[in-house]
Amino acid sequence: MANKPVLAANWKLNPTTAGEAAALVQGIVEAARNQDRVTVAIFPPFLWILGVLELLEGTGIELGAQDCFWEPSGPYTGEVSAAMLAGVCQWVIVGHSERRAMGETDEVVARKAGAALAAKLSTIVCVGENQEQHDAGQAAQVVTAQVGASLAQASADDSERLVLAYEPVWAIGTGKNADPEHAYKQMRLIRDAATKLIGPKAGQNVRVVYGGSVNAANVEQYVELPQCDGCLVGGASLKADEFSTMIRSTAGVYSAAVQ
Ligand code: PGA
Repeated sequence: MANKPVLAANWKLNPTTAGEAAALVQGIVEAARNQDRVTVAIFPPFLWILGVLELLEGTGIELGAQDCFWEPSGPYTGEVSAAMLAGVCQWVIVGHSERRAMGETDEVVARKAGAALAAKLSTIVCVGENQEQHDAGQAAQVVTAQVGASLAQASADDSERLVLAYEPVWAIGTGKNADPEHAYKQMRLIRDAATKLIGPKAGQNVRVVYGGSVNAANVEQYVELPQCDGCLVGGASLKADEFSTMIRSTAGVYSAAVQ
């Protein structure tokens, strides 16, 4: 089914060994298998992707990378291209704030998103204001500008595969999750900004998710929000029991919503 809500596990630079990665996958398989309401996608570091791919066979859990490069191949030491990923996994994240903080500009994010969408990857594009911008009342303006610039190469045809993640920088890894009302307002703005770029029908198809200190205790507050199509989870996705609980409760909220 197109456009199922998504619960995405961004493992970041974790875990350190292949054995730990395998244990983490095995710990969430059962929760993911026993439901069909939510797409569960995991994003291991590049090095673990092929090993995890084998473990995921038959589980229904989808697989993605945390970043990609826009050129398909060539003299780019250290890079992994969207074209390469497309042969191995279904998903990619681009424009995460931890990469933007290391110098990745909107222009770079737009090239990565363009290449990922062209390679037919489901693509999560992250946007979000930082603490200073939040305190200065610039949250709306910042995310609107980031969506506009980051989607410079996206079109209406990409809408089924495009996921926009509202990830306020001040909420990531801090335990300070955004107030659901603030998240809702920002997510609406993000959808509106996407709609302006790719048109009303496509704008409705795009999934908009929340990320930033989401855990088992607060995930329902977000997935219950109107037009929230899931969550991007960092820290809590590294604890198999907690992430399993989150899969179950998210699936529960979405199955209640369609009844
Ligand atoms: P967090 O990370 O859940 O640890 O805050 C979210 C993210 O960075 O995607």
